[in-house]
Amino acid sequence: MKKILSLSAAIAALALSFSLPAAAQAPDEATMKLGQRVFLMCRSCHSTEKDGRHKVGPNLNGLFGAKAGTKEGFKYSDVVAKSGITWSEETINEWLVKPKDFLPGNKMAFAGVPKEPDRKALIAYLKIQTGAK
Ligand code: HEC
Repeated sequence: MKKILSLSAAIAALALSFSLPAAAQAPDEATMKLGQRVFLMCRSCHSTEKDGRHKVGPNLNGLFGAKAGTKEGFKYSDVVAKSGITWSEETINEWLVKPKDFLPGNKMAFAGVPKEPDRKALIAYLKIQTGAK
């Protein structure tokens, strides 16, 4: 009996772990709205659509999982180009707290997004806008 119980607990845990990523991929409407609002700060310098043009900053399509400083046709600073960073939710989050502290000498003239909920919503929004899988 005990064995059956622990087995069903294991199955329940497994089912839960499978359902979590799906939930994380579909941010609720309030999160998307906040993310879109925060992105207004980035929009003058970055496009996000596929093959969007570079502005002051590089086009961000395909950002998640990409190596930093590798968008073709954009002239990055050496610190970004040689950073060896792969962009993920974590690294983008750290970058956006205060870009000039994260990679000193980079040329993104932007102070940062100080509030954590703003960054979280922005990253959820960016994932969808940049076509993350
Ligand atoms: C004033 C213009 C400007 C603003 C505003 C700005 N950026 Fe940037 N961004 C840049 C520039 C320029 C670079 C390239 C930095 C370098 O090469 O040193 C860059 C680089 C980046 C990169 C690295 C891209 C890559 O291909 O490696 C990310 C990610 C990024 N910005 C996200 C954002 C987000 C998100 C915001 C808004 C919260 C934002 N930026 C606001 C100009 C800007």
